[in-house]
Amino acid sequence: MKLNRREFIKKSTLSAAGIGMFSILPSSVWGAKVPPSDRIHVALIGCRNHGFLILRRHLDQNDAVCTALCDVDENILNDRANDVKESYGQEPRLYTDFRRMLEQDDIDAVIIGTPDHWHCLNFVYALQAEKDIFVEKPLANTIGECKIMLDAANRYNQVVQVGQQQRSNLAFMETVELVKTGAIGNLRKVNIWANFNYGIGAAPADDSPVPEGVDYDMWLGPAPERPFNRARFHGSWRHFWDYGSGLFSDWGVHLLDMALWPEDLLDGPKTVLTYAGDTSGRKGMRETFDTMNVVYPKDNYVINYDMTAGVQEGPWDKPYGIAFVGDDGTIVVNRNGYDLYPEYDHSMGRHRAESRTLSGLSDAHEPHVRNFLDCIKTRETPVCTPEMGYAAAVHAHIPNIAGRVGVNHLEWDDENLRFTNSDAANELITPEYRAPWRLPEI
Ligand SMILES: NC(=O)c1ccc[n+]([C@@H]2O[C@H](COP(=O)([O-])OP(=O)(O)OC[C@H]3O[C@@H](n4cnc5c(N)ncnc54)[C@H](O)[C@@H]3O)[C@@H](O)[C@H]2O)c1
Repeated sequence: MKLNRREFIKKSTLSAAGIGMFSILPSSVWGAKVPPSDRIHVALIGCRNHGFLILRRHLDQNDAVCTALCDVDENILNDRANDVKESYGQEPRLYTDFRRMLEQDDIDAVIIGTPDHWHCLNFVYALQAEKDIFVEKPLANTIGECKIMLDAANRYNQVVQVGQQQRSNLAFMETVELVKTGAIGNLRKVNIWANFNYGIGAAPADDSPVPEGVDYDMWLGPAPERPFNRARFHGSWRHFWDYGSGLFSDWGVHLLDMALWPEDLLDGPKTVLTYAGDTSGRKGMRETFDTMNVVYPKDNYVINYDMTAGVQEGPWDKPYGIAFVGDDGTIVVNRNGYDLYPEYDHSMGRHRAESRTLSGLSDAHEPHVRNFLDCIKTRETPVCTPEMGYAAAVHAHIPNIAGRVGVNHLEWDDENLRFTNSDAANELITPEYRAPWRLPEI
């Protein structure tokens, strides 16, 4: 039997690790000397910012190599190719059309670091090309696209990690474990806040000619045709509904993902109560809201989300974070660490829980990427699945839809993918793609 490269990597890894005994490969198995033939060949679509950081985290592991880069802005493509050469001594092939890149057999895994409106097409094409995928969050820019991606992931059976890296962050992992094991008693509320200056939008700019080296039509892709404007382009696209969903979905998927984790909730919310507006008086270039307060009643607890774009301070001296409130204590957590504040029980003369603190952590991209690479070899399921990406994204998209159609109370039927009390909201579930692009049919 002739094995292809990917099957060979998987087979040789499983036997090297004595799989069956270990569920996660110890990194020592992939120690300093990984033969070139056993390396995972990684390609990146969307190279400017976060996708490239994720690529770096892959290349910092000694069992991944960069085979190809793809971007529609040749200036960025060339800069990133130089960066890869300088930092890692590797010379990836360069592409401006991700479909051509995906045709290449020597690519094992693809990182999707494009703006959100591209994720669905990048993802489905990559699955159909039999690539494993690290897809950035939010899973997609609309609920309908998220569902297509979920169905595609289930059909095509590749390894998929969603870039909600807090699933690999020790502070959140320990916090959720404490909540699940009853350390703060009965969980009653999850209070989330997110305050960031960038959420106010970019400085206003006039429409202008497309910069040299940019394939703007391919940047727009399935989104409606519009004149070029810098304030809607690199980085700033996230404040315009055609490409992104503002600060609320940008941070919302990370933080809501944590709020769903204690009960492993994987469906969209049944009921969502939303205030969405503009209270800052600062009109950067954006369509998205600068102020949102959202309540998600769950069967056993309630999630509150409080977002104020344009400020950088927040409760507990943190710009963003989550308070898990239980009968016996409250855990306040963000990516840097957590504190457990126990309730004092006067009748018992003692605290009802034990104080705990963890501090000094930073981002969790490295373990999140490591988990992905290990799963490529073992074919196990990574820690952040498309189902988790779907649930977080739907929780983030519904309040934005509520704000856009002016319906503060929305009822959602996750099974049938529709709102039961607003026709206007149903219009915003799935986008119309600009030809020649078509919504994938799974
Ligand atoms: N997990 C996290 O913490 C985190 C943090 C930041 C951003 N992100 C996510 O990463 C993604 C990228 O965000 P960003 O801030 O890096 O955006 P960005 O605008 O800085 O970079 C996007 C890149 O994609 C390229 N691109 C656009 N269309 C393309 C296409 N069809 N083919 C190839 N390249 C294309 C652009 O030219 C640009 O270089 C978003 O989904 C965002 O939500 C995740």
